[in-house]
Parts: sequence; structure tokens; C-alpha cells
Amino acid sequence: MSEQMEYQGKATMEKITSLAKRRGFVFQSSEIYGGQSGAWDYGPLGIELKNRIAGAWWKEMTRLHDNIAGLDAAILMHPRTWEASGHVENFTDPLVDCKKCKSRFRADMISEENLAAKKCPDCGGELTDTRKFNLMFKSHIGPAEDTASIIYLRPETAQGIYVNYKNIIQSNRMKIPFGIAQIGKAFRNEIVTKNFIFRTCEFEQMEMQYFVKPGTDEEWFNEWRRQRWAYYEKLGVKMNCLRWHQHGADELAHYAKDAYDIQYLFPMGWRELEGVHNRTDYDLGRHAQFSGKDMQYIDQDNNNERYIPYIIETSAGLTRNVLMILCDAYDEEQVAEKGSDDDWRTVLRFHPDLAPVTAAILPLMKKDGLAELAQDIRKELQDDYATDYDQSGAIGRRYRRQDEAGTPFCITVDYQSKEDGTVTLRFRDSMEQVRVPRAQLASRLKQEIKGYKRIK
Ligand code: GAP
Repeated sequence: MSEQMEYQGKATMEKITSLAKRRGFVFQSSEIYGGQSGAWDYGPLGIELKNRIAGAWWKEMTRLHDNIAGLDAAILMHPRTWEASGHVENFTDPLVDCKKCKSRFRADMISEENLAAKKCPDCGGELTDTRKFNLMFKSHIGPAEDTASIIYLRPETAQGIYVNYKNIIQSNRMKIPFGIAQIGKAFRNEIVTKNFIFRTCEFEQMEMQYFVKPGTDEEWFNEWRRQRWAYYEKLGVKMNCLRWHQHGADELAHYAKDAYDIQYLFPMGWRELEGVHNRTDYDLGRHAQFSGKDMQYIDQDNNNERYIPYIIETSAGLTRNVLMILCDAYDEEQVAEKGSDDDWRTVLRFHPDLAPVTAAILPLMKKDGLAELAQDIRKELQDDYATDYDQSGAIGRRYRRQDEAGTPFCITVDYQSKEDGTVTLRFRDSMEQVRVPRAQLASRLKQEIKGYKRIK
């Protein structure tokens, strides 16, 4: 295989970042000012993709379970929350600075030799001693900047769920075991924010906290590991790019009794995508202690037995899932004789449920009423499907543009459409084309989406 062939077809972070910008998935934040590190803006295709990933997770975790309720808690919470949760004390990374080049490193990310010799891996300059660096963003609320006005941007969505757990039991008459799901922004003052949207200071999480009776926690922990693995399989993710990683004693968060990460094989290697944690009664116990409120569950079906529930948490990064889905979908393939025009195509093989655009409607020509007919078809479909309309350029080029945006279906309107009411339905993955009567388009799309199997 030639070097060129070997290079093509592989998702690299450079290719993903460049495609994301070119096609309007993700832009650097405040780019005109040189960019803001750790923050990214989601463009027209990116917000659609992110919304669909969030929608798939929400459906899986709430609609498909009768005992999981949704929540959208505020980002700003009472500062005592973060003392109770242990984040003020424990949510730290070990940090060293280079005295010469002023670079900042996470001490656990530089080699032991460099750390022992206090030598900067970039310039060889002298490193400072390691110190603890709290990752929470701190600000002040109200007009006075004193200790009483300290406010944090939440570093995880989970705490908003814990402080509302009693409200939800009461409002929704929940009985243990039950869950609360939430999608929302979280903020961390990360020391290292490279690799595009993988680790950022502002990101989104999709978390579900499952409240169980102590003693049943290990069983539920295994059950949630099973369900979260099956979820990615259902999404059509390449399963050989996923694996489990159990946290060793030195990796466990301050609240966890046991934790497993689902890791994905990103272009830069195996990295965490989602965590499943057994948080025990740590969080609710601490909130009881710090707030003075009774956080016990009263089991009315069992002689009013009282206990603080254990919590099994499934915690996935939404924005990290966007990166995973982009990497997983990315493909390049030779589609014509080498050296001929457009011999390679870049294609994003999104599952149709996740694709930002489901169907693109393309009139072969703008004239002779074909554009009007295509617009008419678009109007018919757009209530049920995300559609795009493109009438400019050669049809082959337009197909390639849609391939690169990950659009699974193209509908081409030509002269025959005017005569017999059929259109061409082109499939992104196989590039096959079939003629379909216009009246059957909506049901055919539905059937294709339901039966979708990734071929490559
Ligand atoms: N509530 C538990 C919790 O927050 P975590 O392992 O720190 O656990 C959970 O984070 C998930 O959130 C990670 O698996 C990852 O997908 C995502 N995540 C964490 N920090 C992130 C960051 N700085 N940027 C993007 N995603 C992040």
C-alpha cells in the first residue's frame, strides 16, 4: 500500500478539526481575537449533530425507562454545595510551571525523569514544585467581592440532581430504584486543553444518577455498565474502538467505591468517553451533613424503612461524544480510477438518527420547473426530516458535499420526475441509486432509517 493510500482513510485530529471548521461543525471560540483556548462554538451542522446525540441519549435514558425522570438544574449553585461534594477540597490536579518558558503542565502528564529532575519537557528550564490546582472556576455574585459572595461554575451536573432528589421523589412519586437524568454545561479550568473538543474548559455532560438500596448497588452498577455498553452498540459505533477501563485505587475519584470508564480509540489513542461510577451514599450523606436536612429515603412499602440511597452514576461527555461520533464516522475512500477527477471522497458515515441533515433535495437543473418541484418535495419532507436543498454546481460535486456533511440520503429531481413522478434516491454509504415514486419517499426514508446497518 502506498504512503498516500495508507494516509488516506484514517481520521487524524488535524483532518477532523479542519473538516469541522470547513463544513461548519465546530469553530474556535472568538477566532477573530486569536481564539479562546478551551472553548469552541458549534456551527450549523455541529449544533444539529450535538442536539441529535443529546436527543438519542435523552430518549434512551428517560423515555425508554418508566422510572427515570429528567431535570435541568441551574449552573450556579449555593457554594456550600461544593464544600459538601468535596470539590473545594479535592477537585484538584497536580500542577508545575516552567520558570523559564512559563509553560504550565499537569505533573502527572510529564515523564517521571523530567519531574524528578524538575526539567521542563519543552525548553529544559527549571520547573516549580508540584502544587495542587483547583479546577473549579470561581467568581463573585452580587456587588460585593468578598468571601460571602463566592460562586462557582459547576464542574459536574451531578450535584444539581442530588440537591433535588427529594423534590423529585415528592413531585413524581418516585420509588427506589429510580433515576434522574440531566444534560447541561459544566466548567473546569483544565490545565491541558489540546485535542480539539476532547478536553475543554466549557463542555456539556449527559449524566444519570440512579438511586438504589444499599446492598443492591453492585448489582445495579453491573446492570448500568451493561446498558451503557449496549447503547453505543445501538448507535452503530464501531465496537472494536470501545473498551472498558477499571479505575485503579490511584485513579478513583474521592466519592467512588468502584468506577469503570468506557474508552474510545480516538486518533490520539484510547481515551475516556464515559464513566460509570458507584458513588455510594457519599454525596447524599455529605449534603445531609452540610445542609442539616434529612436526605434519607423512606420506604413506604417496607415498614417505612429509612436509609440514604446509594448512587450509581453514568456520566458521559456530550461534547466528547460529538468528537467520538465525528471520528467514528470519518472515512475516506477511493471511488474512481486513481488520478481521475474526484477519485477520493471524504464521507461521514453517521447513523441516520444522528446525521445533521437526513435528506438533501437536489434538482438536476435549476430550470424547466425542476427547482420548483424539488422545493415542493422538500416542503413535504421537512416536517418529519431535517432537509437541505442544494441547486448549485455539478450533481457529482453536490453529492460529495453531502457525503462530507454525512447526509445519508440524497433525493435528485430530474426530467423523468416531471414525467412519471419518480425521483432518484441515492444512498451515501453505498452510493447506490434507486428510483422511488415521490408519494412513497417519506415512508421509504422511514424504512431505510429503521433498518440502517453500517456497511463500513
Ligand atoms: N459526575 C462525574 C464526573 O463528572 P468525570 O469523569 O470527571 O466524572 C465525566 O466526567 C465525563 O465528562 C467524562 O467521561 C468526559 O466524557 C466528560 N468530561 C470531563 N471533563 C471534560 C472536559 N474538560 N472536557 C470535555 N469533556 C469532559
